[in-house]
Amino acid sequence: MAKDSFSDSITKSQIWKSIFRHPYEDSSRNRMLQVLDNVFLHLHPTKVPKYATDVGFTWGMGGISFLLFLVLTVTGVMLMFYYRPTAEFAYNDMKYLQHDVPFGMFMRNMHRWSAHLMVITVWLHMFRVFMTGSYKSPREFNWGVGVILLTLTLLLSFTGYLLPWDQLAIWAVTVGTNMARATPLLGNEGPLGPELGMRPDNDVRFALLGGTVVGPAALIRFYVLHVIFLPITISIFIAVHFWRVRKDGGISGPRPDAKPRPTPIAAKPKRPRPVKKAVVKTDDGVEKPTVAKATVKPATEKPVEAAKPTPATPEAKSEKPAEPNADKEKE
Ligand code: HEM
Repeated sequence: MAKDSFSDSITKSQIWKSIFRHPYEDSSRNRMLQVLDNVFLHLHPTKVPKYATDVGFTWGMGGISFLLFLVLTVTGVMLMFYYRPTAEFAYNDMKYLQHDVPFGMFMRNMHRWSAHLMVITVWLHMFRVFMTGSYKSPREFNWGVGVILLTLTLLLSFTGYLLPWDQLAIWAVTVGTNMARATPLLGNEGPLGPELGMRPDNDVRFALLGGTVVGPAALIRFYVLHVIFLPITISIFIAVHFWRVRKDGGISGPRPDAKPRPTPIAAKPKRPRPVKKAVVKTDDGVEKPTVAKATVKPATEKPVEAAKPTPATPEAKSEKPAEPNADKEKE
């Protein structure tokens, strides 16, 4: 019996098998098992239809938003090592981080730019879901979850804005939170607010700031919201969102039974190609078209049947011309 090679002795060991449950040979079944057996990969289905990988359809914006959320979590935790959320230290800690900590400027800017980008990509994702009609049945619930995710994303961005504790931060948040005064029922200047007993020292703005102005109490509240409450809440909703994408039958796309839409190219009648006639010159310089030689079939040869068209393309399969918008769901 041939002796096992060194790599075989590793991959056949019990320790290896306890970690990697399937051999890595490239077969369809193995690829599925590897996805199923991996805690991170199993969030994906083991097989996805081809249209779900079409970046032209999804724009990849949901995935990019999630990636940015992960970048924000990692860089945010790094920033927490250097930042103290008190009026005394916050501003100086940011300056120290930026100018004295190795890669501090890089870390801060990664966090800042990813935050700006995430706000943009979440909006774009919502726009694409709307444009492809993916909010329709059976995905209405996930659209609702998405609206909550958008709100949480904006709140994360807003609460983070105060943390550098510079003039820009303080006055931006002063302007932003002033709007809370006008909240219906809960703001002291909002519709029915005063009637319900709302005052500047007990309304929703007061609850948000921990006072009537943006001060140290507001800083610690925004910090806790920014690093604990909102990230945990958004993580839970992202999990529900992803789970729901799978339960709703994966990413939306053209219905499997939809007839292919006639493309402008397929609908256009083909122009006959111009036939080039070969010309020969005689000895006296006159140009004459050549005469095609008649091809004589041998008498024994059977007449060739007209070749049937093979349904290679979806267009070739349908006998009738496809109706426009045939893939639209019947309302
Ligand atoms: C933190 C924010 C969000 C993240 C990380 C996220 C992530 C994702 C991902 C990865 C998908 C799979 C398809 C794709 O990439 O396009 C998806 C699908 C979907 N998302 Fe979001 N999303 C977020 C916010 C939103 C918002 C704001 C809405 C709408 C209000 C929304 C509504 C939907 C719907 C309806 C689907 C299913 C689309 C389909 O089946 O084609 N999501 N989301």
